Amino acid sequence: MRIVTSAQEMQWVCRELRGGGAVLGLVPTMGALHEGHLSLVRRARGECSVVAVSIFVNPLQFGPHEDFAQYPRTFKEDCRALEREGVGVVFAPEAEEMYPAGAVTTVSVAEVGDRLDGASRPGHFAGVATVVAKLLHIVGPARAYFGQKDAAQLAVLRRMVRDLNFDVKLVGCAIVRDADGLALSSRNRYLSAEERALALAIRCSLAVVEKMIDEGTRDADVLVCAGRRVLDAEGLRVDYFAAVDADTLLPVQTVTPGTLVAVAAWVGATRLIDNFLAR
Ligand code: PAJ
Repeated sequence: MRIVTSAQEMQWVCRELRGGGAVLGLVPTMGALHEGHLSLVRRARGECSVVAVSIFVNPLQFGPHEDFAQYPRTFKEDCRALEREGVGVVFAPEAEEMYPAGAVTTVSVAEVGDRLDGASRPGHFAGVATVVAKLLHIVGPARAYFGQKDAAQLAVLRRMVRDLNFDVKLVGCAIVRDADGLALSSRNRYLSAEERALALAIRCSLAVVEKMIDEGTRDADVLVCAGRRVLDAEGLRVDYFAAVDADTLLPVQTVTPGTLVAVAAWVGATRLIDNFLAR
């Protein structure tokens, strides 16, 4: 497994691989890898001849009071896991390599990028779109893999790829959960044992709403209120609980198959997200 830190070298390596007939798959990550990330890698391995994984804690997508400084960095373990999964190339640039002095060009996806997490974390999705645009240009993959866990991120990136004619297929991958249902996240490491138990309310709130939908409730207001109540009862601070169109992220009145039901809530100082697509 090759580890590359320079953007130009990565571009050369990937160009050479493509020239030799490789079908490149890209899995962008911020490291601190868990089974959720590895599920993307496995899917990419099954569909592409060479898999590239980027590990880059992207300063541009963190707000001034967010957790950029304490975000977990576990590069050695990450590389060991990726090697076991048969990854071909790891791209792990420093921040100065991705954003050299004088870099001022950014990508911002209007409207959809200002909804859900984009509303509560101003500038977050411009940071994500900018770094993913750069990674797609550097690697030039046929396919790029993203988790449904970050459903709003996936909607923003699909729009960017469509609007800017990126020649890549984005593949959305199912959410991987712990045995008790909590969605895996690098930020779960921040939780104390007590908070870890409380965090389960997020999954429970979605399960309650999913059951109500299965039993025939389709009114979004009724469903959202029911979901919020579960979180309120556990004392979790809700950032958003919403039923939205999965592409535009605009609220819907009536939940139909494919509607995105998404939640973001604070467990102590840790903000966690989860979601499901209505059947
Ligand atoms: P990160 O949070 O490291 O996640 C990398 C990828 O793994 C994302 O596509 C995310 O949706 C996916 N992922 C995380 N947890 C998952 C889970 N439990 N099940 C399935 N997939 C999961 O998302 C980012 O990094 C960044 O915003 C990035 C796209 C790399 C841009 O900086």
